[in-house]
Amino acid sequence: MLSKKLEKVLNKQIEKEGYAAQLYLAMASWSEAQGYEGISNWFYEQHKEEVEHMLKFIKYMNERGSHATVPKIDQPPKDFAGVKKVFEASLEHEQMVTRSINEIVGISLEEKDFTTHNWIQWFVDEQLEEESSVQNILDKLNLIGDGNLYMFDRDIMSMRAEGEE
Ligand SMILES: [Fe+2]
Ligand SMILES: [Fe+2]
Repeated sequence: MLSKKLEKVLNKQIEKEGYAAQLYLAMASWSEAQGYEGISNWFYEQHKEEVEHMLKFIKYMNERGSHATVPKIDQPPKDFAGVKKVFEASLEHEQMVTRSINEIVGISLEEKDFTTHNWIQWFVDEQLEEESSVQNILDKLNLIGDGNLYMFDRDIMSMRAEGEE
């Protein structure tokens, strides 16, 4: 059985993964409306991953004899100030999620729930990967400066494929 404290933070994490999914969907829609096909594909893929994350938490809680709450999710922003800004917002969001996952790691140790501690490690690795892939994109965008985003929009398609396991 999950402790009440863990149940609470895991439920909260379902909401955070759900918000991440919505945020990436908003970013995908924004990029698509701007005509960036590669960038929007990248964000649509992120959206799918975040939905998967949300499902992982729901299924884990239920597997542990709990009953996960499907949350109400806030509306993400509709507009973004530019391609660089959209990736900066995405990095900031991933960093917030990493802090949140780390907090769950800490609580699972406090509660001596080694099953959850072991299970959540997948997310520890996943956050490292997600932060570094967004950071790589931002590094490329910094190199380009105000240069050609048309090429970048094509390059990001292959960056995704490389990053995938
Ligand atoms: Fe996630
Ligand atoms: Fe993420």
